[in-house]
Amino acid sequence: MKGIKIIGTGKYAPENIVTNEELAKTVDTSHEWIVTRTGIQQRHIAAKDQATSDLCVPAAQNALENAGITAEDVDLIIVATLSPDKPFPNTATILQRKIGASNAACFSIEAACTGFVYAMEVASSMLRCGSYKYALVIGAETLSSQVNWSDRNTCVLFGDGAGAAILESVDEKDNTLLNSILASDGTHEELLHTAIGGSATPYTIENANDPGRYLQMQGREVFKLAVTNMANSVKKALEEVNLSVDDIDWLIPHQANVRIITAVGDKIGISSEKVFINVQKYGNTSAATIPIALDELARSGELKRGQILVFVAFGGGFTWGATVLKY
Ligand code: ACO
Repeated sequence: MKGIKIIGTGKYAPENIVTNEELAKTVDTSHEWIVTRTGIQQRHIAAKDQATSDLCVPAAQNALENAGITAEDVDLIIVATLSPDKPFPNTATILQRKIGASNAACFSIEAACTGFVYAMEVASSMLRCGSYKYALVIGAETLSSQVNWSDRNTCVLFGDGAGAAILESVDEKDNTLLNSILASDGTHEELLHTAIGGSATPYTIENANDPGRYLQMQGREVFKLAVTNMANSVKKALEEVNLSVDDIDWLIPHQANVRIITAVGDKIGISSEKVFINVQKYGNTSAATIPIALDELARSGELKRGQILVFVAFGGGFTWGATVLKY
């Protein structure tokens, strides 16, 4: 069995930044309300002509350059997204064409905000078998195309962006991926979902103005389930490899809300300096939050090779999971 190593990271956030003050001009909210409840100060919003694959391109190129490989070296591309360019073909194949990764097998997966953690595990399982050497794993979203910009309960929370990691299949002795746990609970579907636009309820003229066309969320319920399941996942993923919370050098949680992150940190008993937070700059970019944060932390120089790094996420489905790396 081969081992797994992250050899490069990259990210991209659209140029257009929308501050809380700007949002408050179009919807009944305030900078103070948003910051107090979420910690978010601003979000990046894609231009009209930028689809999710367009956000993936610079993130992927950034990661390839960082890894020192070319697009043609890539054997596998997995894009985790809930905001694909089109229902089909999958966004990974569209990205493949745009970056010229002509030797890659490409598919997308949808596990909402847990998408990157799921995609890492899928890619790693494929790389471990030894049939693929380099995987480009991306979390990317244009959530601005999914939210109802007149619903203050949701539109203040989300943003657009893409984060990428290059995984290499290495000798088992060089393995850095210590553990990964994934979980789901499909019994709470309606607490966080977009009701219209799929095969259950296709778009029709009659539902053209229905708010169900946009992301809807019961925030308080989601909050509680997110905290409990993220905290339990971190503990379980560590315990399974005989590590404890004290062994963590860096925790990168899904960046939905500072209050969720703080509550998870308190529940597992980790010191706040070890918890990476950048939600204030980007808002919740769903599947993109963890790889964007990883790239920022890695490029800051603060994340060192050999440190224990943990990812944890929770999102629609519900889906959740945690990854433990000796980076
Ligand atoms: N500006 C001003 N007032 C608002 C806004 C807003 N943007 N949004 C809601 N309110 C009002 C509500 O209408 C309500 O008013 P009322 O009391 O007159 O009815 C009041 O604020 C309180 O609303 P709550 O929803 O109870 O506020 P809460 O303290 O729960 O905070 C929030 C809302 C921030 C959404 C919180 O529940 C939360 O963070 N939930 C987690 C959900 C999340 O982050 N999901 C992301 C996707 S899932 C994931 O990534 C984990």
